[in-house]
Amino acid sequence: MTILITGGAGFIGSHVVRLFVRKYPQYRIVNLDALTYAGNLANLRDVEQADNYIFERGDIRQQDIVSALFQQYNFDGVIHLAAESHVDRSIANPLAFVETNVLGTVNLLNVARQFWGNEPAGKRFYHISTDEVYGSLGEEGFFTEETPYDPRSPYSASKASSDHFVRAYFHTFGLPVVLSNCSNNYGPCQFPEKLIPLMINNIRENKPLPVYGEGKNTRDWLWVADHAAAIDLIFHQGKAGETYNIGGNNEWKNLDLVEKLCDIMDDLLGRPAGASRQLITFVKDRPGHDLRYAIDASKIRRELGWEPTIQFEEGFRQTAQWYIDNTEWLKQVLSGDYQKRDV
Ligand code: NAD
Ligand code: DAU
Repeated sequence: MTILITGGAGFIGSHVVRLFVRKYPQYRIVNLDALTYAGNLANLRDVEQADNYIFERGDIRQQDIVSALFQQYNFDGVIHLAAESHVDRSIANPLAFVETNVLGTVNLLNVARQFWGNEPAGKRFYHISTDEVYGSLGEEGFFTEETPYDPRSPYSASKASSDHFVRAYFHTFGLPVVLSNCSNNYGPCQFPEKLIPLMINNIRENKPLPVYGEGKNTRDWLWVADHAAAIDLIFHQGKAGETYNIGGNNEWKNLDLVEKLCDIMDDLLGRPAGASRQLITFVKDRPGHDLRYAIDASKIRRELGWEPTIQFEEGFRQTAQWYIDNTEWLKQVLSGDYQKRDV
């Protein structure tokens, strides 16, 4: 089996590539990534020499590139993670999100349809999406697979649009698709623009910790390797045309989470208890800031037997320790040197 993974040099993609390369030596894994600011080949140093791994630098929006890869490798499956993924950037530049998340996804769908058109049996197009497409919850309730879409940021609107196209290709053209919508991931190799690595880095450097608004917004955090394990299960066992919600059942208000991180970092860095909390600074809120996300993951538990393996306390410590141990990775990312790379 030959599988195309898009966005494999990013945060979640690199964990998915690693899992597939190691767990399935009989598969050939082709990682297509444009290496935008979010793509970093250092995330894959430990698997880049594997016999069953191939890196291809390219843009999912380019029809000729994607077609040439289908021609060359005759893919049996696609796991599509490539995207613009940061909400604040989508507020600054919505069009980039339409181009990659919507047009890039439709381009991939078109090429897959063209190559698999007459014989889609045994093929699979797996689209990775987010819980943000469902909108914002109040204090209670959970997103299920039946929750109506209500995206409220340019990022979530672009992901919702791509989800609709993926389902449309299933219904209209019979493309064998499967989708999943996951909550907030955390763990090693996350770009330090996102809440957890940003806070860990600022704590390390004794810089202010910018909490948006009053810090009451709530997210459901999942250890990234648990997301990768769910992706493995859904790719192999999910039903065509179906959607699976993935979440950690692990809700934290932002302020509580940042305080927890401060305490863990104080412990790991040998600082007096409470020292890092002094760095917390409340800043202007994100426009259209969704109050709460929370996933009901009972379908994937029931139908595929998936469970998160790591509790938040342990995952948080491991993440903080990873950033402390990998200062060179962080230094390269913060200086921009990671983009001066040989491919
Ligand atoms: P990321 O920003 O860390 O990585 C995105 C990757 O896609 C990068 O390697 C980048 O170079 C690549 N890429 C971007 N545009 C491209 C293009 N036009 N052509 C080819 N490659 C391109 O993202 P992430 O956080 O790892 O998220 C991966 C996927 O999972 C996204 O689809 C995102 O919407 C989804 N998701 C993320 C989370 C989360 O918490 N991070 C949660 C749920 C779903
Ligand atoms: O829910 C899944 C989504 O989670 C993914 O689809 C997105 O790709 C991913 O970026 C993430 O989106 P969020 O907007 O929830 O993540 P972010 O890390 O940007 O912010 C988490 C929360 O922390 C959010 O309520 C905003 C807040 N925040 C964020 C930053 C960067 C702050 O208070 N201060 C900050 O500096």
